[in-house]
Amino acid sequence: MDNRPIGVFDSGVGGLTVVSEFFRELPGEEIIYFGDTARVPYGCKSKEIITKYSTQIVNFLLGKNVKAVVIACGTVSSNCFDYLTQRFDIPMLGVVTSGAYSCCDTTKNKKVGVIGTQRTIVSGAYEKIIKELNPEISVYSKACPLFVPLAEEGWVENEVAEKTAQIYLRDFADYGIDTLVLGCTHYPLLLSTIKKAVGNINIVNPAKSAAVKMKELLAQKEINSQNEATNNHTFYVSDNSGMFEKICNLVLGKTYEAKVIDIEQY
Ligand code: DGL
Repeated sequence: MDNRPIGVFDSGVGGLTVVSEFFRELPGEEIIYFGDTARVPYGCKSKEIITKYSTQIVNFLLGKNVKAVVIACGTVSSNCFDYLTQRFDIPMLGVVTSGAYSCCDTTKNKKVGVIGTQRTIVSGAYEKIIKELNPEISVYSKACPLFVPLAEEGWVENEVAEKTAQIYLRDFADYGIDTLVLGCTHYPLLLSTIKKAVGNINIVNPAKSAAVKMKELLAQKEINSQNEATNNHTFYVSDNSGMFEKICNLVLGKTYEAKVIDIEQY
């Protein structure tokens, strides 16, 4: 038993979609969240910079005495997971592996689509893991970078979001996919808009299986919390223009006040 918090981080507000699944699946676990709102987006940056930023964030979270770390960012998970797990001696979970497992379980016709940031798609991480799990699955990938600023702005269902989704996602109809993975944690914010654009196919949100995987990991390491429920969560950001609270309310149904820290110090 270990009542210490779990650290969760993302480049911005996207990781809140992961926190929301953790609240549902692990109600007794305390969360310390960090959103790098001053340096978002990560998806168009180099692997070196993303590695530097994510290392600083894990250092920060370790200073908060977390018992495990969740990389609630598809971009960091697909580019830096190996580096971070080798560098830091703490149980760590990324969203890419969980997403890849889920989509392999979900697809029936063995044709899946993956959408994510530029850096995630270029890394080929999803394709690699999916092919390892089942070489018969065909993977069609597409970077949808504009979904991130739309989500950060809270423009998730208006005509700009709808038009953007139509343009990005129209090719998937020709590929005949039956499953689409939301490979960026910002994208579940645009879920209804994405659904409208792709029609009646399965949508995989990797956050759901990440929460289940974390539950298994905590049990296996015997570090799960004794609490049945807690509301003792803390949110940190690297800049706060007021948007964080707004999106927090949208995703978690509750406004948590975010504390601003200088992440460059870590
Ligand atoms: N939420 C992030 C992801 O899952 C990153 C978006 C970005 O910063 O570009 O990839």
